Amino acid sequence: MFPESERVSVKTTSPTRPLPPSSSRPAVTTERLIIRALVPEDAQAFHVLRTQAEVMANSAIGRVDKDLEETRSRLAAFVPPNDENTFHFAICLKETGEMIGVGGCHNLSSVFGWPELGYMLREELWGQGLATEFVRAWLNMWCELPRTVVQFDVHQKSAHSEHGGDEKTAEAVIAYTTAYNVGSQKVLEKSGFQHFLTWSVPDRRNPAVEVDLYGYRYFPNYHAAGKEMGDNVEAA
Ligand SMILES: CC(C)(COP(=O)(O)OP(=O)(O)OC[C@H]1O[C@@H](n2cnc3c(N)ncnc32)[C@H](O)[C@@H]1OP(=O)(O)O)[C@@H](O)C(=O)NCCC(=O)NCCS
Repeated sequence: MFPESERVSVKTTSPTRPLPPSSSRPAVTTERLIIRALVPEDAQAFHVLRTQAEVMANSAIGRVDKDLEETRSRLAAFVPPNDENTFHFAICLKETGEMIGVGGCHNLSSVFGWPELGYMLREELWGQGLATEFVRAWLNMWCELPRTVVQFDVHQKSAHSEHGGDEKTAEAVIAYTTAYNVGSQKVLEKSGFQHFLTWSVPDRRNPAVEVDLYGYRYFPNYHAAGKEMGDNVEAA
């Protein structure tokens, strides 16, 4: 998607792979949510989510699932034996235990070279701050994973150099959203993500026109250390 000339090889850190198996990931409780590992028995609730047209309009495939089998094949990416390649969770209401969404890292190597965050919630629950509550908790879970030093090929605009004796690039997690998905942009900004790139692609809803995509990055090490990104971070 991006030309080779826009990529750089960087030394950084990343959660150690394979990731911990989902059976060893404790459920996390927030004010209104339980965030727990996905299991094959979630297929029906996942299907309800993935057959809501407004939810799927902004997904990579841009349409609802054809049947329960298609939903099961999507769920397979997040449960054993594939759980150690993703960090994706069921988002449930604390009060009832009902699964109302999913979110996390579904792709350890996005188009930017960094792990990618994504999320979706059932439409009737939008606008109550639940996605923001999930993303903030998920980022803490992601920050707590053990780290390994790695060499990644990443998009140059996503890379922020850390100077010091041993020059490293700040580890990032990225997300991207269409220009018209204002709700998702707000979720990312409220959770500490920074807009770093805008680019255009043919609009899935009408390929004759282009739509802007906004790339966002988050630096786990800065937030884990309680440091704020200062003036040394390039503006988007
Ligand atoms: C994106 C999504 C997860 C947001 O969930 P949510 O629980 O409604 O998000 P939050 O309530 O935490 O925050 C959304 C914010 O955007 C605002 N918002 C939502 N739509 C908006 C719009 N069209 N214009 C302006 N603001 C909007 C909300 O009012 C809220 O703002 P606030 O914090 O000032 O109240 C949900 O809409 C969804 O599942 N969409 C489909 C899947 C999707 O798009 N995923 C992201 C792909 S990048």
